[in-house]
Amino acid sequence: MTATAPAPSLNLPGSYGTCPFDPPPAYTAAAHDAAVTRAVLPDGTACWLVTGYEEVRAVLADPRFSADARTPGFPFLSAGQRELATAKPSFIRMDDPEHARLRRMVTKDFLVKRIEELRPGIQDIVDRAVDRMTDGRTSADLVADFALPIPSLAICLMLGVPYEDHDLFQSLSRTLLDNGTTLQRAERAHVQLMDYLAELAEHKRRHPADDILSRLVARDDLTPQETASLGFLLLVTGHESTANMAAISVLALLRDPAQTALLRDDPELVRGAVEELLRHLTIIHLGLGRVATRSVEVGGVTVPAGDGVICMLSTANRDPSLFATEGGTCPSELDVTRDARRHVAFGHGIHQCLGQTLARVELQIILATLLRRLPGLRLATPPDQLVYHQDAIVYGLRALPVTW
Ligand code: HEM
Repeated sequence: MTATAPAPSLNLPGSYGTCPFDPPPAYTAAAHDAAVTRAVLPDGTACWLVTGYEEVRAVLADPRFSADARTPGFPFLSAGQRELATAKPSFIRMDDPEHARLRRMVTKDFLVKRIEELRPGIQDIVDRAVDRMTDGRTSADLVADFALPIPSLAICLMLGVPYEDHDLFQSLSRTLLDNGTTLQRAERAHVQLMDYLAELAEHKRRHPADDILSRLVARDDLTPQETASLGFLLLVTGHESTANMAAISVLALLRDPAQTALLRDDPELVRGAVEELLRHLTIIHLGLGRVATRSVEVGGVTVPAGDGVICMLSTANRDPSLFATEGGTCPSELDVTRDARRHVAFGHGIHQCLGQTLARVELQIILATLLRRLPGLRLATPPDQLVYHQDAIVYGLRALPVTW
C-alpha cells in the first residue's frame, strides 16, 4: 500500500438493504463517491474496490492483474474461497499461458454454434421439467423442483456425468460456494468432488462415450489431475449459476407485472430481457478478485504491486454513463426493452465466462416456456419471507414457493 492510499471505508462483503435485487447500499454509495475506493476484507486486509464500468473492464482486461489465487496479496472473501482457489486450482484461478492451455481444451464444446445445436434438447429438458413440476400439483418450489434440475441435467449430458449423482454434486457445490462454510468443510467437499470426478474419468477411459470427459481422458497432454480439475470446474460453474439466475429472474418478473406483460405480448423480447436480467441482477454479487503484479493506475489512483482488488460487477452494471436509457429508465430499474448487451455479468477479458452461450440459451428457453405454459404463475408466499444466498459467491434464492 502506498503512503497516499486513502483509509479504507467499507467492510466487505456489504449487507443487503431492503430491495433484494439492488447491490448492498454500501457498494452503491462507494460507486457514487469514486470509481475506485479502499475497502477491508473479512480477514482485516485492506484492498481496492473497483465499482465503475470502465475501470472494472480495464482491470479485468489488464495482464498486470493476476487471477491466480496463489499470488501473494490475492483478496479472499472467505476461508472456503481460499481453499477452492488454492488447493488444486482450476483455470478460472490461473493466468496465461497456463490458463489458455487448459481453457483451449474445452472451448470448442461451448462455441455458439455447438450450443445452438443443443437448443431442441434443452427445450425438451425444460418442457419435461414443467411437466414434472405441475404433474398432479398446484404448487412447488421453483428452485429445487425446476431451476436446479435443468442446468444440472444439461451440463451432466455435456460432461458425461450421471445425473443420478446430482444429490452428491449439488450439495458439494453448494458447500464450496457458500462463504459461511468452514475451511475444514470446504476442504472435505473439494476432496470429495475431485475424487468423484477422478473416478468417473477413470471409468470413461475404459468406457468412452460422446461427452467432454471422455474426450479429455483420451488426450495425452493432460494429467489425470488436470482432467478431474477441468470436470470439477465445468460441473460446479455449469449448474449453480444458471439455476440461481433462472429462479431469481422469475421472481424479478413476478414482482414486475408490467415488464412481464411486455414480454408475454412480444416473445421476441426474450433475448434482450435475459441480457437485462443478467445486468440488473448480477448474481456474481461479491465481485471478482484480482491482485496487481506491478504498480498500475486505475481510475486515477495507483494500485501498488501486491495489492488485492475486487471488481464489483453489480455496480459496474448500473453505471449511469452506460445504462441510462434515452426514454429515461435509470439503471436501477428493470427494463426488458433496454439494450443491456454491454453488461459485465459474465466478467470481461480472458476469464470471461466460458459457458455464457449455454447460460443464455437455457435462460431464454426457461423464461419463454414458463410464460407460455404457466400464464397464472405467481408467488405462493409473501415476498418478505423469501430467503436469499447472501453469503454465497453466487447470489440467489434458497427456495421460491410458487403456484399457477
Ligand atoms: C467464468 C458468470 C454460467 C462456466 C465466469 C465469470 C463470471 C461468470 C462472472 C468470470 C470469473 C472471473 O473472471 O474470475 C456466470 C453467470 C452464469 C454462468 C452469471 C449464469 C447465469 C456458466 C455456465 C458454465 C460456466 C453455464 C458452463 C460450464 C464458466 C467457466 C469460467 C466462468 C469455465 C472460467 C472461465 C475462465 O477462467 O477462462 N462465469 N457464469 N458459467 N464460467 Fe460462468
